[in-house]
Amino acid sequence: MVPMIEAQALTKSFGGTDAVRDVSFSVHKGEVLGFLGPNGAGKSTTMKMITGFLAPTRGTARVCGYDILTQTRAAQRRLGYLPEGAPAYGDMTPFGLLSFVADVRGLGGANRKKRIEAALDAAQVRAVVHQPIDTLSKGFKRRVGLAQALLHDPDVLILDEPTDGLDPNQKHDVRTLIREMAAEKAILISTHILEEVEALCSRTLVIARGSIVADSTPADLLRRDPLHGAVVLAVVPAARAALLPKLHLIPGALTVAEEGAEVIVRPVPGREADLLANVTQAMRAENWPVTEVYQQRGRLDVVFRTLTTTARAPVPTTNAPPRAA
Ligand SMILES: Nc1ncnc2c1ncn2[C@@H]1O[C@H](COP(=O)(O)OP(=O)(O)OP(=O)(O)O)[C@@H](O)[C@H]1O
Ligand SMILES: [Mg+2]
Repeated sequence: MVPMIEAQALTKSFGGTDAVRDVSFSVHKGEVLGFLGPNGAGKSTTMKMITGFLAPTRGTARVCGYDILTQTRAAQRRLGYLPEGAPAYGDMTPFGLLSFVADVRGLGGANRKKRIEAALDAAQVRAVVHQPIDTLSKGFKRRVGLAQALLHDPDVLILDEPTDGLDPNQKHDVRTLIREMAAEKAILISTHILEEVEALCSRTLVIARGSIVADSTPADLLRRDPLHGAVVLAVVPAARAALLPKLHLIPGALTVAEEGAEVIVRPVPGREADLLANVTQAMRAENWPVTEVYQQRGRLDVVFRTLTTTARAPVPTTNAPPRAA
């Protein structure tokens, strides 16, 4: 199956430093790929190169098999792009902007009206359809941008922080919309909201200082948290000392540590399910004075921090001008 988005060694250099370096990945139909990374990591720059708004220094991208550098129109016809920030042409109304984009995209006849209506509904901008975009709230501006990206019902969606500035209800609605569209499209979204990745993405790409540092499912990322699968017990203080040696002997337990009011049992890798079953079985059999027991899934913020703070510093490109001494 031909990938619907394919980044091939994309590199962008600004002033002699690589903002994006050798970024390669592909997205297939049915996938929602979450693009994660700290501020300035290179997410928007990568998206601008894939959508043909910024020329790469090296490498290229293909959209539905079309090269964005040499078959730009064919590639752009198949993609919808929500750039970061507010839509351009702020003096237009949402309806005016969508009509303009429909013309640019060559939508005509009954389909034109149908698509404009569908985009207005999907992005929920009906309430402000005749108000100049410049006068809209941040969240509504974002939604107009989303309507513009969805207008021609493209196979590929590139959404740069689609839920930025939306209230919690709108965030929920936009995530539901993305999930509903996912089966028929390939979607790349950037976000800083880690819970969004878990709620929405089938795969995650983590980028730091311009390079990919992880490409895996959210579940696999969670497994990288040292506390993934740890069993946490809240134990009555007086009984804690007596319980620790027993927990050490539970099959599947790697380490046992006291942390505040809790006892944390870390699993031997691969024995997470086993460990929880064994702890709860012993707990019931011996009637331990435990007030609460749960298993940690791991935390994406912990994994994100580890991945993005140990990355290498930016490497100057070989043709960078020599620095003054
Ligand atoms: N036109 C430009 N000229 C010079 N440097 C640029 C330009 N555009 C981006 N950069 C630099 O490239 C790097 C990557 O920026 P980019 O906007 O891609 O980051 P990002 O991952 O989208 O960050 P954020 O999470 O803040 O949106 C940054 O160091 C930025 O300053
Ligand atoms: Mg950005």
